[in-house]
Amino acid sequence: MGLFEKFEGTAAQLKGLLAASPRDPFSVSMDEMKGPTRAIVKGKEIVLAGTNNYLGLTFQKDAIDAASEAVKTSGTGTTGSRFANGTYAAHRQLEKDLAKFLGYEHCIVFSTGYQANLGAISALAQPPHDVILIDADCHACIYDGCQLSGAETIRFRHNDPESLDKRLSRLSRDVKGKLVCIEGMYSMFGDVAPVKEFVEVAHKHGAYLLLDEAHSFGVFGDHGQGVCEADGVRDQVDFYTGTFSKSLASIGGFVASNHPELEYLRFSSRPYMFTASPSPANIAAASTALAKISSDNSMRERLWDNAERIHAAFTQLGFELCAGVGPVIAVKLANREQAFMAWNMLMESGVYVNLAIPPGTPNATSILRLSVSAAHTENDLDIVVNAYTNLSQMLAKEKAET
Ligand SMILES: Cc1ncc(COP(=O)(O)O)c(C=O)c1O
Repeated sequence: MGLFEKFEGTAAQLKGLLAASPRDPFSVSMDEMKGPTRAIVKGKEIVLAGTNNYLGLTFQKDAIDAASEAVKTSGTGTTGSRFANGTYAAHRQLEKDLAKFLGYEHCIVFSTGYQANLGAISALAQPPHDVILIDADCHACIYDGCQLSGAETIRFRHNDPESLDKRLSRLSRDVKGKLVCIEGMYSMFGDVAPVKEFVEVAHKHGAYLLLDEAHSFGVFGDHGQGVCEADGVRDQVDFYTGTFSKSLASIGGFVASNHPELEYLRFSSRPYMFTASPSPANIAAASTALAKISSDNSMRERLWDNAERIHAAFTQLGFELCAGVGPVIAVKLANREQAFMAWNMLMESGVYVNLAIPPGTPNATSILRLSVSAAHTENDLDIVVNAYTNLSQMLAKEKAET
């Protein structure tokens, strides 16, 4: 009985919101995929604009061929952890390729980006003498890494190097290791961290910087190395974490570093040691996507062109946007109820975006989060802009009536 009482509040709130919503935004099923930007949902073709498929590589022919070949030659799963029987030559090769692409000496592949952060943070920082300092808007896996670590965790104000500086200045002399965790581009609002300033503040206090570029890998910087490349400080980042589940169009994650001690994580990181390694198909797809990103800038250029078009159109429609031009374009809405209604209206107009409501969002904001893809065609973008035009008209009408 007591075990389930904690769910009652959330269940009642969800029930209230869903009672007025023709669809459940949290259990949409893509009944048939028609490509990187289209799917059939309940018999209707929908433009996908909430997928994190930034470079649109999920249906790239070479990646599909490589993944199919990997299944044939290496099987459907590894049935073991990286630490035991789950490291194949392809896992090792991808670690080398990622390290080379990013310009670090060492790289470790994990089963997901979630586990890469969980595994790196929990192994690096330990009680009683280490302290973790995290940006308040960090992703759940960074928070969970802090919890698993058990080290004292201090939050600083989002994207505010001065706030970090103050907190580092106040630390007791007994503190041994200091680990600062930030992200390159934040997933919900699409706002970008001042990575250069954070590197300077962290290093001034003898702290190490862990930077999660999950949403910015492949997207920012002249070579797609992320926000740290765009800021000219890639070589000063102590630990670079990333995922295969966005621009690399697969599933898996990694941590890269110039510190040789990174290799110790292979026998001290529980999320590395106690879970099965990524399947051969996942590794082959990520490796092929990485080769494509390394050799072809045109996807990144298309992505930014598409982002500029959408951002300009939404600005002209009068929406309140959460950040400047970028691959994530989030529109703020008045409250949860309005966000549910707006999300339904976009689905009605044939567009899927992510509905994000508190407590999953910063500052208790309700948003419609759109992610742009290099694979979005002119026609896809026309459909998106038309849908948001209908939405802006409906919101204006609603406002006029109240
Ligand atoms: C900032 C950030 N880090 C890590 C992850 C986890 O990535 P994965 O899907 O590979 O577990 C996500 C996923 O959305 C993310 O947004």
